[in-house]
Amino acid sequence: MMDQPSPADIPSRDAGALPLAALPAPAQQAVAAYRARLAGAPDGGASPEAPIIVAWAPGRANLIGEHTDYNLGWVLPVALDRVVAVAGRPTATPDLRLFSVHHQQAARYPIPADLANAEVDQSLPFWARYIQGVWRELAALDALPRPTQARGASAAFAGNVPVGGGLSSSAALEVAAATFAEALGAPALPPMTMAQLCQRAEQRSVGVRVGIMDQAASCLGRADQALLLDCRSLDYEYVPFHLPEITLAVYDTRVPHTLATSGYNERRSQCEQAVALLAPIVQRETPGRVVESLRDVTPTDLARHGAALPDIPLRRARHIVSENARVLAAVAALRAGDAATLGALIYASHASLRDDYAVSCAELDAVVEIARTVPGVVGARMMGAGFGGNVLALVCRAALPALEARLADAPFGDGWRRHAPAWM
Ligand code: GLA
Repeated sequence: MMDQPSPADIPSRDAGALPLAALPAPAQQAVAAYRARLAGAPDGGASPEAPIIVAWAPGRANLIGEHTDYNLGWVLPVALDRVVAVAGRPTATPDLRLFSVHHQQAARYPIPADLANAEVDQSLPFWARYIQGVWRELAALDALPRPTQARGASAAFAGNVPVGGGLSSSAALEVAAATFAEALGAPALPPMTMAQLCQRAEQRSVGVRVGIMDQAASCLGRADQALLLDCRSLDYEYVPFHLPEITLAVYDTRVPHTLATSGYNERRSQCEQAVALLAPIVQRETPGRVVESLRDVTPTDLARHGAALPDIPLRRARHIVSENARVLAAVAALRAGDAATLGALIYASHASLRDDYAVSCAELDAVVEIARTVPGVVGARMMGAGFGGNVLALVCRAALPALEARLADAPFGDGWRRHAPAWM
């Protein structure tokens, strides 16, 4: 799954200096769309002789550690070999002229003088708001492209990360845009600073208080390595993903994340409520202990004091506390080459997300249960924010056809079938 260079390896490429065929397919599409839709625009502002700048960034899967990032715990994502790419040029005019291949839609954003404090432009199509958000956050850091004094750009975007499927196409879009800005002459940002910038752009653009996982995975992901990220210290290390005969498969249920915005923010608030109730109890019991997030709560704390919490915050806390332990156990299993233990942790993560965090749905549960019946499937769980989206499966390569066939034949209801699930 992970054989494309990540932006950390190759931040950007000048299509003028590189054969088109050497670029990932989405970058080739972005170049073609830029040439067809934007390069010839009379007021595009870019010199037709200037090289076309290309950048790209990957989507991500997450082995384990779901909803732990904003609780300052651990996550273990892997970068995908699917990317969002951008091709374009800087412009002297202060505007963003954009084209999305996926949406077959153009958008124009006149950059205001006080971009750093600009609101989200609600008249922009959804996808363009992420790019506006990245430009705004770059302005807030005084990190817009410099040498040409060009604050604007014309750029086309294309990608093969499924949109809205829980594989972080939006993070890939943001990181591609920020990497593109860097290639246009913006000051180089350390990868984690770029990830945080893109996280702020996402939070503001869509009003969801997302954590750092997706953008960090897109900025830092490397082929064949999982990224163990401590979401409090932002320290990270790479854990080789080498399990003989085992592969990761992602099954897209195509169930849209309709509840994701409200449900996500609600889960965050419920976690904060659990911390507010538990912290004084734990700190009173052990003077000197600091509980500022669920990261600081241990299974023993929950066993001793969980009864002080209402049912819902208790369930949310139980998921986060157990999931953090599962991430660390998964890293140990990966390092030991122990696929069976990793798979068991992945199944346990699904049960916890379903029962305690309540972010699964009937279709995700059904896929996980069907996968469990196929010999050679080692683990399966819903992945990402939930309420729809994907199932991640850890599968012996030889068992992939059987799993595929079993899911193709599954007697799902009509509502399910309409979603036309697909393998990736
Ligand atoms: C979304 C968010 C991430 C993370 C996951 C759930 O992908 O963007 O920050 O919280 O959901 O693990």
